[in-house]
Amino acid sequence: MKPIISPSILSADFCHLGREIDMLNNSEADWIHIDVMDGVFVPNISFGFPVLKHVAKASTKPLDVHLMIVQPEKFIQEVRALGAFLMNVHYEVCPHLHRVIQQIREAGMQPAVTLNPATPVSLVKDILPDVYLVQLMGVNPGFGGQKFIEHTVEKVRELRDLISETNSKALIEVDGGVNMHTGARLIEAGVDVLVAGNAVFSANDPQEAIRQLKNL
Ligand code: DX5
Ligand code: ZN
Repeated sequence: MKPIISPSILSADFCHLGREIDMLNNSEADWIHIDVMDGVFVPNISFGFPVLKHVAKASTKPLDVHLMIVQPEKFIQEVRALGAFLMNVHYEVCPHLHRVIQQIREAGMQPAVTLNPATPVSLVKDILPDVYLVQLMGVNPGFGGQKFIEHTVEKVRELRDLISETNSKALIEVDGGVNMHTGARLIEAGVDVLVAGNAVFSANDPQEAIRQLKNL
């Protein structure tokens, strides 16, 4: 099966955001990946809801919202107001992850959880039946264009096994360092969704880069 492709607008040209979203609307991208950073959980700040309101209005693709912020539960209503279908929170900032997952579902969105490179996949075992998707970071979150951490491929395999073991239907998404080479290896390991920022937006022809990722 072809992978779901979710280009990350973190690497887009923010002076021409409307144009960039249009380009994605007219591409083979399945979702649009939105990276929200708070300068606390990660050492960078990206964009917030006043900007995202416009992105959401311009986009015809489902929004895959990745919150790299502390206390993400405080923003469930804001994410829902964007019309996002998926709200993704980090394992590392949610001591009451089960509660947050339920709250996201009650708000009408698909709940997802992300693991940093140093967080073992075994830690999400008990939540697998409750989440729509588990995202594994292929880099330390905070910046686009970083080098892929090789161990992520092994983590995808481990997570794939854990998902079958628990009869979960969770999708596996990888975010960070995805390009044609790493993407091909991740697909072989069992990934369902590929996020790509730099590989799409710094390509000469971003729509062609998306098409190539889709057909890996
Ligand atoms: C990293 C972000 C990623 C980032 C991926 O903190 O969560 O979504 O945009 O960028 P690339 O694909 O350039 O590694
Ligand atoms: Zn992301």
